[in-house]
Amino acid sequence: MVDEAVRRLVGGADLHRVVEELRGQDQSGRVRHDLGMPDDASARAARRDLVRRGYDVVSKVYRDDRGESDPASAETTSMYEGWIDELARQLAPGSRVLDIGCGAGVPADQLLVEAGFDVVGVDISQVQIDRARVLVPQAIFVCSDLVDFVLEPGSFDAVISLYALIHVPLEDQRTLFPRVFAALRPRGLFLVIVGHRRWSGVEDYLGAPMFWDHADEHTYLRWLDDEGFEVLWHRFVPEGDVGHTLVLARRPGDDELSEAEAQQVASEELVEARAQLRSLADR
Ligand SMILES: C[S@@+](CC[C@H](N)C(=O)[O-])C[C@H]1O[C@@H](n2cnc3c(N)ncnc32)[C@H](O)[C@@H]1O
Repeated sequence: MVDEAVRRLVGGADLHRVVEELRGQDQSGRVRHDLGMPDDASARAARRDLVRRGYDVVSKVYRDDRGESDPASAETTSMYEGWIDELARQLAPGSRVLDIGCGAGVPADQLLVEAGFDVVGVDISQVQIDRARVLVPQAIFVCSDLVDFVLEPGSFDAVISLYALIHVPLEDQRTLFPRVFAALRPRGLFLVIVGHRRWSGVEDYLGAPMFWDHADEHTYLRWLDDEGFEVLWHRFVPEGDVGHTLVLARRPGDDELSEAEAQQVASEELVEARAQLRSLADR
């Protein structure tokens, strides 16, 4: 039975019929389903809500309590330890780290806590957050859509987001980048998994309908550059026949900016803080 959120996503029609009609393949051979819906705010909210419901259902199949992926999938968490270790080596003890789309907190937040950091995780799925609170009790977890989560300027030494932005409508992803930049302290780090090739669609994922949206790697690198991030490196992370891009970017120190750039950053942060306050007041 196709649930109501999915019906809304595909404009009231039956998901499976629409999926059949729109079935195609991208260059990697992966089946692609176009949604055939306008990209307005309510359509984007419905897509994020579909993801929330999806992870409420698949949480335990997606990731077991030890932080391992479903053995039947092409996904693996074997590289997380190396990624977190590489990040940790560049952070001072006790650094504050935010994980956006933290899931059940394993293994990434557990590794961050073990490395001695002060960790905050945010995720849209209540089931994921409930599990994270049990599995990584030393961290703080907040259940929120990242679109609504208030990011205080200059409050984190690092932000990570692994395989989460790819579930967020592109326009909402784009508006997150300046918020992350502002939330980082000068010289703060942003470790993020983004798309490698453009892809968007709804597919069955571990037994629930799931939405994905990602731009190609060059678009993300341009967005980061446009926001003032310095991209330290980016790598292809394979997953079966396809894959994603892992990026480590850095907010430059204030002393590394020219006076004009520093003024520009300060005024953008003021605009960002005002926008967040306005959106809080509107709720
Ligand atoms: C593929 S899982 C990754 C979980 C974790 N980062 C990891 O790598 O183990 C994606 C996570 O992003 C969360 N997510 C997706 N869209 C979100 C949104 N709009 N706001 C907050 N979290 C979101 C999902 O609920 C899910 O837990």
